[in-house]
Amino acid sequence: MRKKIVAGNWKMNKNAEETEDLINELIEKLPDDIEAEIIIAPTFVNLASAVDHVEFTNITIAAQNMHNAENGAFTGEISADMLQSIGVETVILGHSERRAYFHETDSQLAFKVDTAIKHNMKVIFCFGEELKDRQDKQHFNVVENQLRDGLFHINNEAWENIILAYEPVWAIGTGETATPDQAQEMHEFIRETVRTRFGTIADDVSILYGGSVKPDNAKEIFGKPDVDGGLIGGAALKADDFVAIVNGLK
Ligand code: 13P
Repeated sequence: MRKKIVAGNWKMNKNAEETEDLINELIEKLPDDIEAEIIIAPTFVNLASAVDHVEFTNITIAAQNMHNAENGAFTGEISADMLQSIGVETVILGHSERRAYFHETDSQLAFKVDTAIKHNMKVIFCFGEELKDRQDKQHFNVVENQLRDGLFHINNEAWENIILAYEPVWAIGTGETATPDQAQEMHEFIRETVRTRFGTIADDVSILYGGSVKPDNAKEIFGKPDVDGGLIGGAALKADDFVAIVNGLK
């Protein structure tokens, strides 16, 4: 079933103490009358303590990345088994910063998705066009290719564990957000693209919007029929802002 989800991607922010403080503040302030999944993704080194802190709450902890190999000589990398051994069952894959700065390709991402599926982990799969793609009117093609190359090889059952996150690169950290209509237009396209290959599964997949979601625009964006929540960067680093965004689902 399609779920409402708000996820906070903390990126490379918050040390150990700050992570604990922010999680404690979120536990205190998040509403308990919203039917939505709340996911937060601190840095690798703070995942274990985050998992401990959210025990007995409805917050889920996610990693921001992982390697596709089971183990081996991959200095600096983290495996699915390592994440699961500390209680992390969700991973963000394909964030545009991973694609741009660490040169992750669609085909590498397809391997990472396979590894996550094999481990029965949940994946928040990120994709989205750059500004020049939109200016060249190529945004639908780019998004379709990212979906096809990263996800179209998986089987129907695997979709149970896939959350899609459309993040137009031009809206990330820029303060410039897609208008609610632009988000809806693309989310509808994404759902129809999934439908062409996987049929009615498309109706059950949650599609999050990410890119400068703030307390003052969340409600309008989340109000669109094909927007099932958000993946939040900067505004997830302040408890009051994140909580206000979650309340935008009401
Ligand atoms: P901002 O909300 O800071 O634009 O970041 C969005 C994002 O990249 C979430 O993954």
